[in-house]
Amino acid sequence: MRQKLAAGNWKMNGTGADLVELKALAKAQSTAKSEILICPPATLLSRAAELTRDSAVSLGAQDCHAANSGAHTGDLAAVMLKEAGASTVILGHSERRADHGETSAIVAAKTTAAWAEQLTAIVCLGETLAEREDGSTLKVIGNQLAASLPKGATGENTVIAYEPVWAIGTGKVPSLAQIAEVHDFLRAELTTRFGAEVANAMRLLYGGSVKPGNAAEIFATSNVDGALVGGASLKSADFSPIIQALDAS
Ligand code: PGA
Repeated sequence: MRQKLAAGNWKMNGTGADLVELKALAKAQSTAKSEILICPPATLLSRAAELTRDSAVSLGAQDCHAANSGAHTGDLAAVMLKEAGASTVILGHSERRADHGETSAIVAAKTTAAWAEQLTAIVCLGETLAEREDGSTLKVIGNQLAASLPKGATGENTVIAYEPVWAIGTGKVPSLAQIAEVHDFLRAELTTRFGAEVANAMRLLYGGSVKPGNAAEIFATSNVDGALVGGASLKSADFSPIIQALDAS
């Protein structure tokens, strides 16, 4: 059985004052069945790690460099994020693919770097609105999956997040049939490439405008094992009902 995963991506939001939300979340969700992960800005990781020690909340980073060290001004290596308290790293988020020109090949190299430090990689995939409208969604997702995921992916070292670019931060959500179509396709592609045992162990998250009001129906959708949540993960009062909906699914 795959353990459900509620992952929060704070993006470039949060300073020390916002750590009270993390504390509140850890308190409110101390008995949650689902795995709970918060990915704050890297500047908060060490302090967040102290606050969440021995709690149900684990921590992740939002990106890492493919190299372990070197002349890469402003970048962070997986080993640094791990030391700061991350167990996981989000890779290939569409905002990084768009803002930083990250290709799937770069995402694959980062994934290998994350695994080398025993960080779980949450590898993000998603089509643009133009791709959705011209009917190429599954082709785009298939290509991204094939190129972003190196050999050696397992249910422990990798999570896949399907995040349609047009659903992120917009309040727009695909139909449940559209989510099911992509998630079923992902499971089938993973089975072809890695075999049924690995494919059946790997969590598939949906991301893009998940809110307390739509979480339950999304979590009841085929092959959805949790969510990657942006805006609604910033406040414990918003994220908690999403976690409860996941626990109940
Ligand atoms: P959102 O972001 O929940 O604010 O739409 C999701 C994401 O980008 O992971």
